[in-house]
Amino acid sequence: MSTYQGLEVLFTREQIAERIKEMGKQITHDLEGEKLVMIGVLKGAAPFLADLARAVTVDTTFDFVAVSSYGKSNRTSGAVKLIKDLDEPIEGKNVLIVEDILDTGLTLTYLRKIFLQHHPKSLRIAALLDKPSRRIEKIEADYTGFSIPNLFVIGFGMDYAERYRNLPDICLMPPDAQ
Ligand code: PRP
Repeated sequence: MSTYQGLEVLFTREQIAERIKEMGKQITHDLEGEKLVMIGVLKGAAPFLADLARAVTVDTTFDFVAVSSYGKSNRTSGAVKLIKDLDEPIEGKNVLIVEDILDTGLTLTYLRKIFLQHHPKSLRIAALLDKPSRRIEKIEADYTGFSIPNLFVIGFGMDYAERYRNLPDICLMPPDAQ
């Protein structure tokens, strides 16, 4: 396994770029001739959204939401709250929620529920990483980059106490530093 700044690399920037290119092609194929709104979930999804948006050739706009971060332990109680809402209405639009990671599924289950109340034309989910073993809510992404076991990952948007989001590769958080 390669390393970057002394951290073990799980997915290199080249592997990530290649996978996002493939995901972009699939999304372009599925939405041919349609318009799309990509909704990024702050903050972790920002680098993925930036790359995914440039990998599709569909007529695309962006919006962003933020959900409260009570921490993972509290999130398992289902306590997810919207702290930054959409800027534009999504009624009648093709929506793609863009997430860096699908973990317990509580965040996306909550977002899907509130977005569906706005009656979009379609609602899809793209997640760069998926940890199916952690799932509490029954939810799957329509487009998944990589499915991984329950590892603590950082980089490419993902943080540990807000750090490491700018690592270009997806790395493993060293157990002794957690
Ligand atoms: C991460 C990730 C998802 C959520 C997934 O966000 O970006 O939004 O957790 O977890 P779940 O499936 O268990 O709900 P986080 O709260 O770490 O915020 P961040 O994006 O600002 O890092």
